[in-house]
Amino acid sequence: MFVSENLTVNNKNHLVIGKNDTVELAKEFGTPLYVLDEDLIRKNCRIYKDAMDKYYGGKGLVLYANKAFCSLYTCRIVNEEGLGVDVVSGGELYTAVKAGFPMDRVYFHGNNKTDDEIEFAVENGVGNIIVDNIYELEKLNETAGKRGIIQNIMFRIKPGVDAHTHSFVQTGQIDSKFGVALENGEAFEIIEKASKMPNVRVNGVHCHIGSQIFDIEPFCKAAEVMMNFIGDLKDRLDLEIDCLNLGGGYGIMYTENDDPVPYDEYIQHVSEIVKKTAGERGVKLPFILMEPGRSIVAPAGITLYTVGGIKDIKNVRKYVSVDGGMGDNPRYIMYESEYEAVIANNADAARTEKVTIAGKCCESGDILIRDAMMPEINVGDTLAVLATGAYNYSMASNYNRIPRPAVVAVSDGKAKVVVKRETYEDIIRNDIM
Ligand code: LLP
Repeated sequence: MFVSENLTVNNKNHLVIGKNDTVELAKEFGTPLYVLDEDLIRKNCRIYKDAMDKYYGGKGLVLYANKAFCSLYTCRIVNEEGLGVDVVSGGELYTAVKAGFPMDRVYFHGNNKTDDEIEFAVENGVGNIIVDNIYELEKLNETAGKRGIIQNIMFRIKPGVDAHTHSFVQTGQIDSKFGVALENGEAFEIIEKASKMPNVRVNGVHCHIGSQIFDIEPFCKAAEVMMNFIGDLKDRLDLEIDCLNLGGGYGIMYTENDDPVPYDEYIQHVSEIVKKTAGERGVKLPFILMEPGRSIVAPAGITLYTVGGIKDIKNVRKYVSVDGGMGDNPRYIMYESEYEAVIANNADAARTEKVTIAGKCCESGDILIRDAMMPEINVGDTLAVLATGAYNYSMASNYNRIPRPAVVAVSDGKAKVVVKRETYEDIIRNDIM
C-alpha cells in the first residue's frame, strides 16, 4: 500500500511504523521528527550480508555507507549486525570511533582528505584508506612511516561506466572529481608508484559508479572492468590484489514510479561476472566489499510534520506548508527528488486533490513534494513523508536558523530518542559577539 514495507494503518486510521502510532509519536516527541525503524535497518543489513555469504561463500564484507545517515546509534546497530562502515570525513570517522566501531572494519573515503584527517585515521588504526590521488598517497606513506606502521590502502578507480541516474550522483565516468581513471593510464601509474612505497600496502581497488541506480547492467559492467584491471595489475606489475570494493548505489522506491531490483539479485549477477572474469584472467577471487547506504536506511525512515498554513491560489496551485522543509530534507531543492506523503492521522483516505507540500524556509524552491495527490488536508494534521531515512538527517542544515529535528528510533512498539532535537541555544552555541 505504501512505498515502504514497514508501514501499516491501525484501527484509528493512523499510520503505524514499527508498531508505533505515528500520531502518538508526533505528540510525544514533537514535529518535525525523523523516525527510524530499527527492525527494518537490521533486516536490510541481513539481506545484504546473507546475499554476500551466499554468492561469495562468506568471502566478502558489507560496509554501510555512513553518509546516508551517520550517528552513534546507527554505528552501533550496523556493528551489531556485523557490517563494516565506509566513512568519508573526519567527522564520520570520529563518530565511528566514539561508537566503539572496530577500526579494522572501517574504510576511509574522500576525494580531498586533509592532512589532519589522514593523521587522525592513521592514529586510530583505520583498517583501510581508499586513496583518491597522488597527494594523499604521498602524505599517507609519510604519516604511516612516522608512526612505523604499514597502512592498508585501496584505490578509488573510475571504471568509465555510465550509470543511468541524476548527473549530480554519477561518479563512474572520467569527468568526475573522484578517484583516478583507467582510460588515461593514471590508475595504473599511481598503483605502480604505491607498490614501491615502503609504508603502504596496496590491499585493493574500489569503484562506485553512482547512486539510486535501478539497472543491474552498469554494476556488472563495472565489476568486469575492475576484474580486468586486477588482471592487468597482475600481468604487468606482478601485483596480486586481495580486495575488490564495488561501492554502493542500489536504487530504492521513493514513489510508485520507482522499480528497484531486489538487492540479492544485483549481488548474484555481479558475483557471476566477478567469478567468470577471475577465471578468464587467471587471478584469484578477491575478497569482495560493497557499500550500500541509501538502501539500508532510506526505507526505514519517515519524517513527521505538522501542517500549518494552507494557501489555495485558485487556478494556480494549492500550497500546504509544514513545520520543516529543506532544512531537514534538501533533496527536492538539490535534485528535484520525489517522495510519497501520507496524512498520518487519516492514513488510508482517498487521494482526491493535487497539492504542493512546501517547507517553511525563505526560499521558493523549499518544496518537499510538488503536485502530490493527497486526501483533503487540514491545518494541524500530521503529515508523514516516506522513505526519508537516507540523505535527509545527514544532509540537514540550520538554514534560517531553524533547529534540526530529533531522531527517534522505533522497534517492536518501543520508541526512543537517538538524536536530540536541537535548541535555539544549540543554534548560537559557537557564536561570539
Ligand atoms: N560508496 C561511495 C564511495 C559513495 O560515494 C556512496 C555515495 C556510497 C557508497 C553509497 O551510495 P548509496 O548506496 O547510498 O547510493 N546525496 C545524494 C546521494 C549521494 C551519494 C554519495 N555517495 C542523494 O541524496 O541522493
